[in-house]
Amino acid sequence: MRILVTGGQGQLARAIKSTWPVTTDEVLLMGRDQLDLGDPSSIRKALEGAKPDVILNAGAHTQVDRCESEPDLALRLNGAAVGELASWCSDRGALLVQVSTDYVFDGKGHRPYREEDPTDPLTVYGRTKLEGERQATRAPEHLIVRTSWLYEAWGKNFLATMLNAAAQGRSLRVVADQRGTPTSCRALARQLRCAIHEGWRGVVHGSCSGETTWHGFAAEIFRQKGLSPVLSPCTTAEYPLPAPRPAYSVLSGEKRARMGTDVMPEWKEGLAEVLMALS
Ligand SMILES: NC(=O)c1ccc[n+]([C@@H]2O[C@H](COP(=O)([O-])OP(=O)(O)OC[C@H]3O[C@@H](n4cnc5c(N)ncnc54)[C@H](OP(=O)(O)O)[C@@H]3O)[C@@H](O)[C@H]2O)c1
Repeated sequence: MRILVTGGQGQLARAIKSTWPVTTDEVLLMGRDQLDLGDPSSIRKALEGAKPDVILNAGAHTQVDRCESEPDLALRLNGAAVGELASWCSDRGALLVQVSTDYVFDGKGHRPYREEDPTDPLTVYGRTKLEGERQATRAPEHLIVRTSWLYEAWGKNFLATMLNAAAQGRSLRVVADQRGTPTSCRALARQLRCAIHEGWRGVVHGSCSGETTWHGFAAEIFRQKGLSPVLSPCTTAEYPLPAPRPAYSVLSGEKRARMGTDVMPEWKEGLAEVLMALS
């Protein structure tokens, strides 16, 4: 299979490339210089050139706070661009795999969100990603994978922020009243490969198992690394951001387990693998 991955310089795209066995498929990463999600003609030109069997859309406007002040751009990249990809897939019989987010939920729940639970995003980012889900369904062959709290050994993410802060000897206050599940990009990449090869369709959740808070995630990073910076909990109210975060965004893995091979590890195990790669 020829698999075209958008957002080619992003942390998930790079994990897809590095975990996908070269023997099974041809994986083509395209950054915005080759496929600009904001430009329909660039999208069409890239797709016509590559003629993929699968488009894996890992590109997006992912800066959640900036999306609040750039709603039109967010809608173009996270929503309309997916419609362009879906339309091409529809014409060519290709599969569209759309990566989506736990931020489509309002976070008022108290048990892991299931795929069929009502969505009600709190933010521009969440609303535009939900529009992306809606657009993806225009491709007859589509798979929408919602994930959460992504990080890797590369890229800008919470893990990098914590390790940098510790290296600089800074004391840290980290939010302890938002619950979710840290997910390594490489774990998600392996799950995406199983899902594509096993022919999954529809909406499925793709996070690691278990749950914690951002503070719990930070504490586990430092525990596993043998670091002991000054780390204290704070509340969301004490750390205001332009885009409100869902208080609870754990995603249920039950449907995934029913659909086929479930390779998502427990989140601490996923973290250990990434930290090992960093050492
Ligand atoms: N990060 C998370 O915690 C998280 C959680 C849930 C879901 N997701 C979803 O997972 C997917 C992968 O996210 P990620 O964490 O890998 O994010 P990322 O590292 O920010 O990667 C996103 C990529 O999209 C690219 N992009 C932005 N505008 C573009 C444009 N106009 N045309 C083409 N590419 C463009 C970015 O390019 P530049 O580097 O040039 O800006 C970046 O390389 C996204 O769909 C995201 O919504 C992420």
